[in-house]
Amino acid sequence: MTDPERSDLELDIDGRLLRFPAVWLRDNCPCPDCVAPGTTQKIKDITDMPNGVAITHAGRAHDSVTVTFAPDQHRATFPRSWLAAHAPRGGGYSDNSKKRGGDSGDRVEDAKDLWLAADLGPETGRFPAADWQRYLGEPAERVRTLQAVLRLGFVLLRKVPPEPGMVLDVASSFGFVRETNYGRLFDVRVEPAPGNLAFTSGAIRPHTDNPYRDPVPTVQLLHCLRAAGQGGDTGLVDGFAAAAALRAADHASLGTLAATAVPFVYADKATELRAWQPLIELSPRGRVRGVRFNNRSMGPLPGSYAEITAFYAAYRRWADLLGEPGRQLNLRLAPGDCLVFDNTRVLHARTAFSLSAGSPGRHLQGCYADLDGLASTLAVLSRQEKS
Ligand code: FE2
Repeated sequence: MTDPERSDLELDIDGRLLRFPAVWLRDNCPCPDCVAPGTTQKIKDITDMPNGVAITHAGRAHDSVTVTFAPDQHRATFPRSWLAAHAPRGGGYSDNSKKRGGDSGDRVEDAKDLWLAADLGPETGRFPAADWQRYLGEPAERVRTLQAVLRLGFVLLRKVPPEPGMVLDVASSFGFVRETNYGRLFDVRVEPAPGNLAFTSGAIRPHTDNPYRDPVPTVQLLHCLRAAGQGGDTGLVDGFAAAAALRAADHASLGTLAATAVPFVYADKATELRAWQPLIELSPRGRVRGVRFNNRSMGPLPGSYAEITAFYAAYRRWADLLGEPGRQLNLRLAPGDCLVFDNTRVLHARTAFSLSAGSPGRHLQGCYADLDGLASTLAVLSRQEKS
């Protein structure tokens, strides 16, 4: 006698009733015919799966469950711990809802620790910083440092030798340098004929970098080689915390900003870059996963009269909120300090600084990298720390 076919598997794990669709189990079969041994790569496409997949039998062992599928009698063995960790929501209790980021991964607001300036001030002991030599030498310190970028949006590495090019070593320590039309790295200092406000001594309001690139660089590094005599302080604003505040205060404005693709433009003699992106990017589940804010490179917004006026009302609201007192964390980079920050979340700013005659002046070097490489390095390090 054969068991009746079912389109699901119900499982009691530690008193929790979990329910799995047959088609999902079949697509996640870990057997060597379905996943290339020694890799995480599936061999089969969704169209290789027989139509009408069902379950004819489930053999429940102490720490695993072996499922037999119809119509082809394929068998799959799943560890109970894997099933418990990946169980669908609904139809019973699931651990999934407790994971950082929920169903949307580690880039969304739910996976972050949102902050105001007072939360991270020097007196709190929560300001994320690390010593370069310790970071290089101690895997646990490296984990803590890289985690700060993912959770808080930035970290300050101290005592990175204040030598030209070292910023590239910092980027290579966790990921890959993103080369752009500015080169592998760029110098931030006063230039005689500046093509960008960054190369003057003027103040720069909070912004994200390079919104005119698609994809945008997701990590930025700034390494201080020489500080200014007076001024030139750096400010950081948590854009995700501000977006959460905008949602609470004015949900419609958040919706308008998320639904409006803005043209960002950069052009010089050799380059013409354009990207159409919203100021606030939401995940498929409507959670904040990116902000772009840089009026300098925003082109003329197209659209109907009503769309444009609605956008500007929301944009102004958002800009005012980002500029609220208490949001901006101020710090002064000393020679050897290297700031690593999430350019999809944290806005950066600088105060004006003075140029004293005869002094060599403020000099930072910067470069771009990406969060996926950083997260990968962190995941592999965490794996090694656990074993
Ligand atoms: Fe910048």
